[in-house]
Amino acid sequence: MYAEFYNLTGLPFQLTPDSRFFYESSVHSKAMSHLVYGLNQAEGFIVITGDVGAGKTTLVDYLCSTLDPQRYLIARMLTTQTSADDTLRLAASGFGIRADGLTKGELLQLFESTLVSNYQAGRRSLLLVDEAQNLTVAAIEELRMLSNFVVNHETPLQSFLLGQPEFRKIMALPELEQLRQRVLASYHLGPMAEGETRAYIEHRLRLVGWNDDPHFMDAAFQRIHRETGGIPRKINSLCSRLMLFGFLEETHHVDEEAVAQVADELRTELSGGVVLNGYEPPRPSGAETDFRQINARLTKMEERIDKNDQAIKRALAVIAQRLEGN
Ligand SMILES: Nc1ncnc2c1ncn2[C@@H]1O[C@H](COP(=O)(O)OP(=O)(O)OP(=O)(O)O)[C@@H](O)[C@H]1O
Ligand SMILES: [Mg+2]
Repeated sequence: MYAEFYNLTGLPFQLTPDSRFFYESSVHSKAMSHLVYGLNQAEGFIVITGDVGAGKTTLVDYLCSTLDPQRYLIARMLTTQTSADDTLRLAASGFGIRADGLTKGELLQLFESTLVSNYQAGRRSLLLVDEAQNLTVAAIEELRMLSNFVVNHETPLQSFLLGQPEFRKIMALPELEQLRQRVLASYHLGPMAEGETRAYIEHRLRLVGWNDDPHFMDAAFQRIHRETGGIPRKINSLCSRLMLFGFLEETHHVDEEAVAQVADELRTELSGGVVLNGYEPPRPSGAETDFRQINARLTKMEERIDKNDQAIKRALAVIAQRLEGN
């Protein structure tokens, strides 16, 4: 909808991670350097933690898009609360190993021989575990065991673990001392600074042919950073709604007020609140008999109704957008 209005070739602020939109902010670039360092070391574990929505999955996507499939066999694991045994089987199936009907011992043997033959064929195996905060200690131990396979004094498998901040607490548990000793490097992916938040927004917009339409005022960028704390997913949802707002208002400028209003609406929606634009039911008071006061209140109510009307229009447009699969 808004894409046509602003002459864009696509939607710039999708919530699904997409490596084509990767923006190498200083935090993402440091996280990437850790992953690349790990690859060069060709052993052990690399741990990346990061705030919710900070870009961990996007980072993994981007890394995968840069690796030569002739040289790397990549298994990506999105962990849910699975048992240790299931974790092992999930990792195996990520490498195309069929574990049906095998005992754990047989599976481990098959796992090792598969990794070794890949290695001998010149392909390193890389296990990327996303949402690692969902792993139990026993599951993490299973993954550690896999790092014990050795061929020609080298490990044919390397693992990268990515998780939300609570994963750091898990990693600090005394039972995981052996794993900690195998961690080559770890990094915490934090939010982007104000200047990079702006550059991130402009980067995503440019990738869909943005030519300063809509024009974002400086104060709007600053406000977006304040409202989102520099977290990419929050920036995407706010900006996506801002663009929709601009389209519905038929404006080609995004100012600070618009950012504040849209952020407010998002907060109200997400909190499930019924307060629309700050409207509160009238409280009886003696002063209400005053005609001028009643008139002023009526005008205010009309304004609020008008605003609510617009909010409903926007809400309907959002629903329509979701139904269209955007
Ligand atoms: N460096 C980046 N460049 C471009 N877009 C990014 C970047 N980092 C994150 N994003 C965008 O932000 C959103 C959230 O990113 P992502 O899903 O990777 O976060 P996450 O850290 O994996 O979140 P969670 O903790 O919920 O798993 C996605 O829409 C993604 O496209
Ligand atoms: Mg993720």
